[in-house]
Amino acid sequence: MTTVIDGKNVAASVIQTVKSATAALEKSSGVTTGLAVVIVGDDPASHAYVGSKSRMAKECGFKSVQHTLPAETKQEELAALVATLNADPSIHGILVQLPLPKPLDSEAIIQSILPEKDVDGLSVVNAGKLATGDLKTGLVSCTPAGAMVFVRRTHGEDLSGLNAVVIGRSNLFGKPMAQLLLNANATVTIAHSRTKNLAEVCRNADILVAAVGRPEMVRADWVKSGATVIDVGINRVPAPERGEGKTRLVGDVAFEEVSAVASTITPVPGGVGPMTIAMLMANTVIAAHRTAGQTPPQF
Ligand SMILES: NC(=O)c1ccc[n+]([C@@H]2O[C@H](COP(=O)([O-])OP(=O)(O)OC[C@H]3O[C@@H](n4cnc5c(N)ncnc54)[C@H](OP(=O)(O)O)[C@@H]3O)[C@@H](O)[C@H]2O)c1
Repeated sequence: MTTVIDGKNVAASVIQTVKSATAALEKSSGVTTGLAVVIVGDDPASHAYVGSKSRMAKECGFKSVQHTLPAETKQEELAALVATLNADPSIHGILVQLPLPKPLDSEAIIQSILPEKDVDGLSVVNAGKLATGDLKTGLVSCTPAGAMVFVRRTHGEDLSGLNAVVIGRSNLFGKPMAQLLLNANATVTIAHSRTKNLAEVCRNADILVAAVGRPEMVRADWVKSGATVIDVGINRVPAPERGEGKTRLVGDVAFEEVSAVASTITPVPGGVGPMTIAMLMANTVIAAHRTAGQTPPQF
């Protein structure tokens, strides 16, 4: 019997822990967890993401601040806002929504966020802490952190003896995911567009994580019987069966056929997707606990 992970359900349980931890921190130390979200320009998708993040922050009991800047904002103006938020003791997490409109230099902005407030986990300091196994003081990029919650809930904390394959080597997902699996003692292979015999590499995986951006690339005969399959891909494909011009979302894994082989699988949508915002909230309450000198909750 294959287990289909309900990402919404797991995300809701993470949010529940965030809410309790937020309330407990406020009660014990008078600190209200604060998240600042910065958006530049008027990309509708980015506005939708930022709206959900700000709403969720309020629901968690955070002080939630949103800064909406025009597309013409200059690099120095955005840098000055980040500097102000870095210096604001009531803000524990800063998120600058990407991509930034051209010609803004997003890398310079992301790296200027104080690492302890970098709740997206994108600074080189946080990437370095993850790479050296320092999960106690670093912040981990939200989507891999969310995917790892699924892995932990399926296999426990210690992945000794298990082979994990991550397809994709992006800084945003593939590399941090591989580091998290390695930290948990898995034997990790990172595959990418230059990997030979990808299907064969994947068939070795007890835990297979796909983050490529190619619709339904991973087929049933790529998957070891009984494997855990985490599908991070989000691809919009034509769905003429739903009517002319209609589309639907699919992952990087051919869900129906792989479900017949895997023991645990995440769907798209409704798998990894809902975890990203939940882990952003988790990182923010972790950051607030650390600032207040208190032990943060674990997720
Ligand atoms: N919230 C979420 O749920 C969430 C968050 C982040 C990303 N995603 C989704 O996850 C997917 C990956 O995101 P990303 O940011 O990591 O993408 P990315 O930066 O484009 O990286 C894609 C990776 O896939 C590899 N790749 C491309 N074609 C391949 C092939 N034919 N065989 C093997 N590997 C191949 C690339 O290899 P090279 O390095 O060799 O080019 C690269 O490492 C996207 O669909 C994205 O939408 C979802």
